[in-house]
Amino acid sequence: MAEVVIVTDAEAAGRLAADAILRRFARIDQPVLGVATGSTPLTTYRALASAGADLSGVRCFALDEYVGLPEGHPESYRAVLDREAVEPLGLDPALLAVPDASPATLASAGERYEAAITAAGGVDVQLLGIGTDGHIGFNEPGSSLASRTRVKTLTTQTREDNARFFDSIDQVPLHCLTQGLGTIRDARHLVLLAFGANKAAAVAAAVEGPVSSGVPGSLIQLHPSVTVLVDEAAASELQHADYYRLAYANKPEWQEL
Ligand code: GLP
Repeated sequence: MAEVVIVTDAEAAGRLAADAILRRFARIDQPVLGVATGSTPLTTYRALASAGADLSGVRCFALDEYVGLPEGHPESYRAVLDREAVEPLGLDPALLAVPDASPATLASAGERYEAAITAAGGVDVQLLGIGTDGHIGFNEPGSSLASRTRVKTLTTQTREDNARFFDSIDQVPLHCLTQGLGTIRDARHLVLLAFGANKAAAVAAAVEGPVSSGVPGSLIQLHPSVTVLVDEAAASELQHADYYRLAYANKPEWQEL
């Protein structure tokens, strides 16, 4: 099962996530980080930046990208990641790959992205947020648990959730390119973060509900190495919260996050 750690706030989660990433990367020659967008991973990026580690050789793969935004649009995930991860962490922009949403070559974008991840040796640590409808990446409910990078249609709920980054919901693209659930499952370690009461139902369904394409985040139950970092509000619907606290408080020294 996933290791579930209930922390006081997003800052504490960010520090734990950064620590887990840096400890794993210390053992790897050419580490590969799976980066995520949204507000959730920001504290992890901040903690990584303040750790002061040299991350200039780290190769990064984004989970997803909007389709239909003009190149350079400030809310394209390429632009968001350049701003929120590449610059503050001192990553090499040339080593950040984002699914290529260029209209002319969209049909082959998924296949090309999968090939690039494989050529890089796979993802060592994949950061994940979770949507209020349980999506990870942009794998909306109903996504095959075996899916690979492809074009998806966003749900109205996701577009409403993400409208805060745009002037109105009409400007939120309807389509995206996203790593599939099968792609995400291939990463060697997953770190799923969630904060706030509006994520509580999705977290409980992903961690403790049945494994189902109806809750794409439940994919984590099929993965042998997962850390879930949640604040009290996001943990509030977990049935086994006391057990997770007990396990974490008595965690053996040698067991890593
Ligand atoms: C978007 C992203 C997801 C992210 C989700 C939650 O849909 N594609 O990767 O997990 O939003 O966003 P936030 O972290 O802002 O709640």
